[in-house]
Amino acid sequence: MKKICITGGGGFVGANLVRLLLQEGYTVRVLDNFTTGQRCYLDGLNIELIEGDIMDEVVSATAVAGMDGVVHLAAQTSVPDSVENPFYDCQLNVLGTLNLLEACRQANIPRFVFASSNAPLGRQLPPAHEEQAPLPISPYGASKLAGEGYCLAYHGTWGLGTIVLRFANLYGPFSGHTKGVVAQFLKNVATGRPLEVHGDGQQTRDFIYVVDLCRAILLALESELCGELFQIATGTETSILELTEQLAEVTQQAITRTHGKRRLGDIGQNYSAVSKAAERLHWQPTTSLKAGLNETWAWFQSKEDIRRM
Ligand SMILES: NC(=O)c1ccc[n+]([C@@H]2O[C@H](COP(=O)([O-])OP(=O)(O)OC[C@H]3O[C@@H](n4cnc5c(N)ncnc54)[C@H](O)[C@@H]3O)[C@@H](O)[C@H]2O)c1
Repeated sequence: MKKICITGGGGFVGANLVRLLLQEGYTVRVLDNFTTGQRCYLDGLNIELIEGDIMDEVVSATAVAGMDGVVHLAAQTSVPDSVENPFYDCQLNVLGTLNLLEACRQANIPRFVFASSNAPLGRQLPPAHEEQAPLPISPYGASKLAGEGYCLAYHGTWGLGTIVLRFANLYGPFSGHTKGVVAQFLKNVATGRPLEVHGDGQQTRDFIYVVDLCRAILLALESELCGELFQIATGTETSILELTEQLAEVTQQAITRTHGKRRLGDIGQNYSAVSKAAERLHWQPTTSLKAGLNETWAWFQSKEDIRRM
C-alpha cells in the first residue's frame, strides 16, 4: 500500500485529495499548521496528522520519512496577501518549498508533486501553456515560479522525481475558508449579500472542479514522468459576469452585484491549454461548470456555520 504525505492536507485541495487517496487505498499522512486549513475537514478520516510548519526542518524531515511520495500543497495562496506581505509569501512559498525538497532528497523520496498556478505566467497572452516564458506580475506569481524552478532543479541536479502542476482557478467542497471567487460569491448568496465584482467583470478565468484536479494529482503521483510541468485546467474561459449568471441559475436565488476596483496583480484574461496533460498524463476534466457548481452549492448549504465562514 503506497504512503503519501500531503502538506497542507487540511486545506481546500488537501481535504478533497485526502479523501480521494483514501478511497484509492493509499495510506495518508498530513502535515499542516492550520493557518488557513480547518481541522474539522479531517474529522473522522483514517490518516496520520502531523501538526507543524513546513518551515521547520525537523518537522519536514519527520513528515516525509518513509513516504512513497509527497504532494506539496501548503503555501501562502493569496495574490492580494502577497502584495501586502511579499516577504512572508517568499518565505513560505520559496523557502518552505526548498525545505521540503531538501527533506525529500535526503530521505530518497521517489515522487514530489508541486502545486503551482498560472500566476507565474502573469502577463502572457492566453491560453496559458507549458512552453510560454513566465512573466509574473505579482509576488505570489514570483514565489510560485521560484518553487517550480527548485522542483525542476532538484530533478535536474539530483534526479528527485518532481512534477509541477499549474492549477487553474479551483472551486468545490471544503472551500469555505478560501478567498476564491466561487467560494466568496456562494457565501454571499447564502447570506443574502451582493456579489462584489472587481472591475467590470469581463476578466476571465478557467474554473476547474477540485475533484477533477485531485484526479490529476493522483495520476502525477502514479506517473513515471519527472522534471515535467503541466497545466491542469479545463481549457474553457468564463468571465466573472458569466459566473454570476451561472450562480443565479444553480442557487435559484435573486443575485445582486456591486462593482469595486480592479485589484493589483490581477490577470485580465486567463485560461489554459490542456493538451499536454491529456497526452502525457492521460488526464481530462470530466465535470461541467454547472455540475461542479451544483456540488459546491450543496456543500455550502450543508454548512450550518456558513455565516461565520
Ligand atoms: N485554490 C486555488 O484556486 C488554487 C489555484 C492555483 C494554485 N493553488 C495552490 O494549491 C495549493 C493548495 O491551495 P488551497 O486552495 O487548498 O489553499 P488552502 O489555504 O486551503 O490550503 C493551504 C494549506 O496549507 C496549510 N499551511 C499554510 N502554511 C503552512 C505552513 N507554514 N506549514 C504547514 N502547513 C501550512 C494551511 O493551513 C492550509 O491547510 C496551494 O499551493 C495553492 O497555491 C490553489
